[in-house]
Amino acid sequence: HGGAVPPPISWSFAGPFGTFDQQQLQRGFKVYREVCASCHGLKFLAFRNLADPGGPGFSEGQVKALAAEYKVKDGPNDQGEMFERPGRAADRFPEPFPNEQAAAVANGGKAPPDLSLMAKARTYERGFPWFIFDAFTQFAETGPNYIHAVLTGYEAAPAGFQMPDGGNYNRYFPGHVIAMPKPLNDGQVDYKGPDGKPQAPETIDQYSKDVSAFLMWAAEPKMMARKEIGFKAFIFLIVLAGLVYFVKKKVWAPLH
Ligand code: HEM
Repeated sequence: HGGAVPPPISWSFAGPFGTFDQQQLQRGFKVYREVCASCHGLKFLAFRNLADPGGPGFSEGQVKALAAEYKVKDGPNDQGEMFERPGRAADRFPEPFPNEQAAAVANGGKAPPDLSLMAKARTYERGFPWFIFDAFTQFAETGPNYIHAVLTGYEAAPAGFQMPDGGNYNRYFPGHVIAMPKPLNDGQVDYKGPDGKPQAPETIDQYSKDVSAFLMWAAEPKMMARKEIGFKAFIFLIVLAGLVYFVKKKVWAPLH
């Protein structure tokens, strides 16, 4: 695909028993909000989702206060006019640009894609036999691996590389020329907790991990419930298989 293969990362949500790390999702949301949101939408996510079980775990009060900080388009009203009002918990995240064309014009011709499903969209296959092991290990999380790789993959173009106008060299982006300028720098997002100490390293690498985890949750908000039900279904099927076996033996016993 023209980009280097992203290094695999050990995500808390990987594997059949993986769970999202609530603190990490909260940090990742902070990164999205303070850095990515100026260019990228998150149109399938509503503010209230931030309080859903299995997610970042914000309280309803926090979500209401957060939503109210945004301006949301509404209307038409009784006079037939569109208007803006403060956001409510049920609103979805407002788009950074009025439409696709405006988004492209503001970004040198390439519209920044919506990030709601990005972690599920940008996957890659590692080929046989890896895809068999991938189903059971951390390496299956290729979407977040790729997002993390792109965010940390900015470097100087190799000598002689013809860089088109507005392009940025990225080790992992297919073709290496990405329209997105390097979005993250060390120390850019404040991770200080109530005690005044950073809750996690304020580095490009950590920001990238956190926002990738957050985008994974955004793309698959019911992941934890899915894994839990999947495990129960497994146990149920094992027990059922045993019962079916012994019932069969009993029913057919007279004919032996
Ligand atoms: C593309 C993530 C910040 C502008 C992308 C892609 C991802 C991404 C995953 C898709 C790459 C692909 O197509 O494979 C993020 C994250 C950000 C962030 C997580 C915050 C940490 C920004 C900012 C801007 C921006 C602040 C604008 C200044 C773009 C543009 C593209 C893009 C224009 C299209 C690139 C192309 O197709 O060449 N971003 N982004 N991004 N982003 Fe960002």
